Amino acid sequence: MTVTYPRKFQNTLGARDILKRVVSDRELHLMTLNRYRYSEQRSCKDLTEVIEKLDGQPPELIRDLSHHICDEARHSMWLTDLLVELGANVGNPPGMPYIDEFEWLLDKNTHDPKTNLDDTIIAGMAAINITEKRGCEYFSAHIHALKQAPQTAENIKIRETIEKILPEEAGHVRWGNHWLGQIAAKSPEHRQKVEQAKRKYAAIEQAAYESGMDITLGAELRRVTRLVEVSNTMPLWERPQYLMERLPQALLAPELQFTRIQAAQKAWQRNPQEFMEKFVPMFLNGIKKNEITKEKNSV
Ligand SMILES: [Fe+2]
Ligand SMILES: [Fe+2]
Repeated sequence: MTVTYPRKFQNTLGARDILKRVVSDRELHLMTLNRYRYSEQRSCKDLTEVIEKLDGQPPELIRDLSHHICDEARHSMWLTDLLVELGANVGNPPGMPYIDEFEWLLDKNTHDPKTNLDDTIIAGMAAINITEKRGCEYFSAHIHALKQAPQTAENIKIRETIEKILPEEAGHVRWGNHWLGQIAAKSPEHRQKVEQAKRKYAAIEQAAYESGMDITLGAELRRVTRLVEVSNTMPLWERPQYLMERLPQALLAPELQFTRIQAAQKAWQRNPQEFMEKFVPMFLNGIKKNEITKEKNSV
């Protein structure tokens, strides 16, 4: 069976590159931990929604999901305890966090569990599985970065917390693979559906991940491109509605403007010289990329 893995940001920047930068800047580090906390907390709500949608069937999956929620709640608790102890912010992260973007990209109403339980389970499990993989990738890169960083009491405490979470996230990935494998083994048709769902949710996850990182100029247009990539993994008849429902917000993207302005302000306040050297070229690269795309399109 195909194994889908989350890709790098714009195929160039890996989790290790990003986390190395994150742990070297305390403010960014604490903000990142708060984003983890937010995602862990939110996943409890999302998994509860899956349980309610399945409405009791199959009982073994309901049981597993309730255990899963217990794990995620514990992760959130550990991170909240840590952040409060470090005197950091535990408010909702600004802009459109990854998990909100992921949810926005999901097409929630395509499967009715009453008429097709297997399709609902496949969609739910494929969606959970790919986000768990991203979590593992990030946490292991974070631990790696913290091992290279100065061994301060704070860094050690952060590493110990993430080290408690990572094995459980790896367990969630294995659990998801097991369920998806079991469903795929039912029939060739089931196998095909599982493969298709994996491709679709990998595209959705990649789009959500990149949108969260992409704050340079032209991000709105790239967001539309990613939206089209997601719709390409769907059956033809589902594509127009999916796109039409999301295009206006993708183009306006008010939360994107907000994130971009905030990121620029933060970078400026922190280090005006670095702002000119690193942040300004980042915007200019965005412009250049857009111009190249425009030129390509006009040829
Ligand atoms: Fe978790
Ligand atoms: Fe998890």
